[in-house]
Amino acid sequence: MKILVIGGTKFLGYYLTRTLLEEGFEVTLFNRGITPDDFGSSVKRIYGNRKDYKKFYETFRREKYDAVIDLIAYEPEDVEVIEKTFRDRVGQYIFISTGQVYLITENKHQPAREEDYYQKLIPCPKGEEAAYEYGLKKRQIEDYLEDAYRLRKFPSVRFRCPIIEGPRDYTLRLYSYLLRIDDEHPVIIPESGDNIIRHVYVKDVARTLIRVLGVEKTRGKVYNLAQEEVVRLSEFLRLIAQIMGKPLQLVKIPDRELLEEGLPLDISPFSGRWVSYLDPSFAKEEIGFRSTPLEKWLKPTIYYFMEEYRGEKPSNYHYRAREIQLAEKWKFKLGIPE
Ligand SMILES: NC(=O)c1ccc[n+]([C@@H]2O[C@H](COP(=O)([O-])OP(=O)(O)OC[C@H]3O[C@@H](n4cnc5c(N)ncnc54)[C@H](OP(=O)(O)O)[C@@H]3O)[C@@H](O)[C@H]2O)c1
Repeated sequence: MKILVIGGTKFLGYYLTRTLLEEGFEVTLFNRGITPDDFGSSVKRIYGNRKDYKKFYETFRREKYDAVIDLIAYEPEDVEVIEKTFRDRVGQYIFISTGQVYLITENKHQPAREEDYYQKLIPCPKGEEAAYEYGLKKRQIEDYLEDAYRLRKFPSVRFRCPIIEGPRDYTLRLYSYLLRIDDEHPVIIPESGDNIIRHVYVKDVARTLIRVLGVEKTRGKVYNLAQEEVVRLSEFLRLIAQIMGKPLQLVKIPDRELLEEGLPLDISPFSGRWVSYLDPSFAKEEIGFRSTPLEKWLKPTIYYFMEEYRGEKPSNYHYRAREIQLAEKWKFKLGIPE
């Protein structure tokens, strides 16, 4: 099968490309050639900026693929040009959406099911414009693709993912906690933020995108993906500390107190309102989605960040000294033993 991957070299796209090659697919990567990769000549490469729509159309208007897998569609115009370019010359178009499409609605059903998408939008919370906009634009793309299938049978498949985890995750959210557990000082969770954690492992997503290739019944459909285990953030961090062989002291501090002390709430990146909680039952039932056990994927991910990763530390770790001071004060207040 001939597959075009748009993006394909950083995180989810990297694992997708690697797995496609392992499984013998003929892969063409389209990206700007900025992010280095180790695929060498095992892939065909076309360089360009997907935002240059005219050139994109010119580049691909005579090409035919069994599937186009798009890792980097963030605006409706990105997919409008996909449909114009590939209209009758693609077997499937696979789009990666986000659990955030539910978080900007009035949906109260938890975990969110696919049908919970059809709810009224909430107004944008103050100061949360970027995250809101991200969800909104992914929804606009989904709405476009839903119509394109209904009206013109354009064969898209959509996947809604919560936070994606694993080695190479350039958002460094998990690494933020690993550094704090590793330094053996107390770890702060904002009082409002002992969230439910039901993320998804990057390799499980990559495998699922490949699993649906050529599967007729997935056309026009949307699937939630998420790991099987449902844990609170505090339990999640205890499991990580246990794997790392480190002690863990968690201190819950009121959000207001943290802000007054000049500490942003993203010192705990899995605490905010933008952590989605999805129900993957439909994907399990219809396409046989299975997730790797939590502990099994945490181990190589922790190993990657603690032993192999050589990049920057997350910007939220710059506050660590102030955080430790405040946590020590609160530990005393809350009577947490040493
Ligand atoms: N991470 C999460 O927690 C999470 C959660 C839910 C959904 N998602 C979704 O997952 C997808 C992200 O996947 P990823 O970043 O891991 O993908 P990726 O395909 O591994 O990396 C991004 C790729 O896009 C290329 N690229 C960036 N801008 C480009 C442009 N203007 N034109 C052409 N190529 C460009 C980059 O290469 P060059 O730099 O060489 O161009 C790179 O290959 C997004 O759709 C996101 O919404 C992520």
